[in-house]
Parts: sequence; C-alpha cells; structure tokens
Amino acid sequence: MRGCSSVVIFCCAFSACCVVSEASTMDPEDMEVESGNPSNVLNHNHDVIKERFKYFKRRKPPPDLSQVIDFDHATAEASLGSVVPYQLNFSEDKDVLQECGLTNPTEWKAFTLSTHPGLIFICNPFTASGQRHWAGRCLRDLPCHPNRTNLDAQGLLQPGENWWKLCMDGAGGSLMKKLRWVTLGFHHDWHSKLYNMCDRSPFPADLARLAALLARCVGFADYAAEAAIVNMYHADSTLAPHTDHSEWDMTAPLLSLSFGQSAIFLLGGEDRADAPAAMFVRSGDVIIMANQCRKSYHSVPRILSAGDARWHDSKRKRCGGCDTLRVASPKQARHAGADAEPRCSPGAILCECDVTEASGDVTAEEGDPVAAYLGRSRININVRQVFQRGQVLHGETH
Ligand code: SIN
Repeated sequence: MRGCSSVVIFCCAFSACCVVSEASTMDPEDMEVESGNPSNVLNHNHDVIKERFKYFKRRKPPPDLSQVIDFDHATAEASLGSVVPYQLNFSEDKDVLQECGLTNPTEWKAFTLSTHPGLIFICNPFTASGQRHWAGRCLRDLPCHPNRTNLDAQGLLQPGENWWKLCMDGAGGSLMKKLRWVTLGFHHDWHSKLYNMCDRSPFPADLARLAALLARCVGFADYAAEAAIVNMYHADSTLAPHTDHSEWDMTAPLLSLSFGQSAIFLLGGEDRADAPAAMFVRSGDVIIMANQCRKSYHSVPRILSAGDARWHDSKRKRCGGCDTLRVASPKQARHAGADAEPRCSPGAILCECDVTEASGDVTAEEGDPVAAYLGRSRININVRQVFQRGQVLHGETH
C-alpha cells in the first residue's frame, strides 16, 4: 500500500463504540435507574447521557416515549418546540439520485434542533428499493475480505468465506445474528482504538458517492468518505454513549444511515453532563452530525420494532385492529408512525380484508432474505472523512 513502505504507522485515537447485545431483558444496571420520565431522573453523578441511556434501555417498566422527538410528525414549514426545519441544497442529477436509491429531493424533509445546532436529520430520502439495495450491500457484499468483521476476529469466518452465503446455504443458522460490525476503508482497531494508516482497504465507491451527495446537500462540497463502521443491531442491542473524536479532520461531518428496525437515538453535547435529545430513527433516515455537534456524545439505548416497513414496495401490512392485511400509499407509508401498531382506522390505510396471510404475496420478507433481515434487525452505516482535503501524509495526498 502506498505510504506504508516507511513502516511509520499513523495512528489516532478512535473512540467508536461497539454494539452490545444482551440476552436478558433486565440488566442489573437498569435497576439503578430511577423510574419516571427521563426529565425527572435525578442526576447524582452528572453523567446525564448515561442516565438517559439507562432509562431508555430499561425493560421493566418500559420507558415513557411520549417526549421522544418524532421528526416524521414535524412539518417542513414551521418550527415545533426545538424542531426547526432545515433547508437542504439540491443540485443533483436525476440519474445520480436514482443510482443512489434516493427519491426526488423536493420531497425530502430535513430538520435541526435549536437545542443541538449542527444536527441535521433527513427523514427517509430513500426509495423502498433503495433501502433494500443498501441493506443488500451491507449484508451480501461488504462483510467479507478485504473488509473486516467481528467474525474474522472471532475465527468464525475463514479467509475467502462470505458470511451471507454461509447463512443462505443454511450452514450458519446461528451465524446470522453473530455479525455485529463491518469496517470499511481505514479499519478501526477495536483493541488499540486507533486508526492505522497501513490497515486500510478500498472504500466502496458507491457508498462514497452516496455520502458525498448527502454531504453536499448540507453544505460540505468536498466530502470524501474514508472510513465506515456498519453496525448490526438486533432486538436487544444497544450502543453506549460515546464520541467519535479521532478523525484528523474534525470539520467534516459524521454521516449515519439507518435501515430496517427503528431505534431511539440520544444526542448529547460535548460533555457527558449535557442533557441529550431523544429522537426516533427509522428505516431510511439520515443523521448528520456537523459543526458544533460533530464531537457530541451519542448513543442507541433501544431498538424498536418497525411497524411501518418502509423497505416494502407494496406496503402490505397486517392490521392490528382486524388482523387483515392492508396497503398504504407510498406517501401514507412514509408519514405513518413507524412504531405504532397498525390500526384499521378508516381513511388512513386501506384494509384488504379479502387477502389472507396464506395468499403468498403478503410481504417482501417471504421471498427476499434481505427484507427478512430488515424485518428483524437494524443496520447502521456510519461514515467518516478521516483526513482534510489536501492533507499530505507519507507522500499520499488526501
Ligand atoms: C454510531 O454512533 O456509531 C452508530 C449510531 C447508530 O446506530 O445510529
């Protein structure tokens, strides 16, 4: 690799955190959390983001989600509490948008928070097939050489083996849930918590194109994706509060793309004592942490079941009210509450009471293992630019 002949290793501290899954529903830590709304939780140790993390992670009793920010219910025209509409810049060619699996940007809704400037939340700019496409890339193509996975480190994947293929061949029933992360580009060393200049594989060109397009929309014209962690979350997974402060260029934003199951995302400040905002993140949503927010603590305390399967073209769903199936228009589906149980409310979504579960074309999951994975798990692609444009290291120009 260029730049490595001198055997000088450029390292920088990398604080990315590993997704944790728990078998039990009651973590002993949870028992320490005082009950009640997060805003009422007493702060003994001033680690406010950890307190909120524990509150939202708690199983018994479950947390109150009524104050969690739901950008899907905000309007692009007016501020609502701390939620402020954000104007994106669009100059993208239709073919490029299509290639990236994105809808027409005139339909996109984006917001920031007056309490957390620098956050930009884009409500699902992806088409249903765009979501399945990126999820497919994360499942089928990326978890293999030259990228790194937790399975390599655990000796569960031999060189040359493809995790998805093993799972599809039936050899890996339990292997499916064991994939927790994949690193791309500059690989994160989870032990040293360092970036190593000599431990790098090519960054996927299509993902770099998508990241650059999204960064352009929020005013970062020269964004270059150089590292990414793809995190896989299952129903009991969490990601503890952390900051990503190790990239050499801290002026370039963090880009976070989510597919599949929903989550609660906590965004704090640079200090653990700063009160975090809690927000719902659903399939297709994009979170950009830029400027003042770039070094903020953040975490994922809870995965929520996605009642609104945004990655389905047909939007067929079983109705919680009458136990029949129904179809939503793409627009209804986009704006429906993702975590609400489907209800058979007249006018909102049409019930197809003559369609039975056995009819065969009920969900995309049945014929599409990628959609089936999204129906159980959450994929987060977290993209970073590591170096400043023009920065020269060991003769390499970035
Ligand atoms: C991360 O911060 O690395 C992941 C965040 C997420 O899963 O939304």
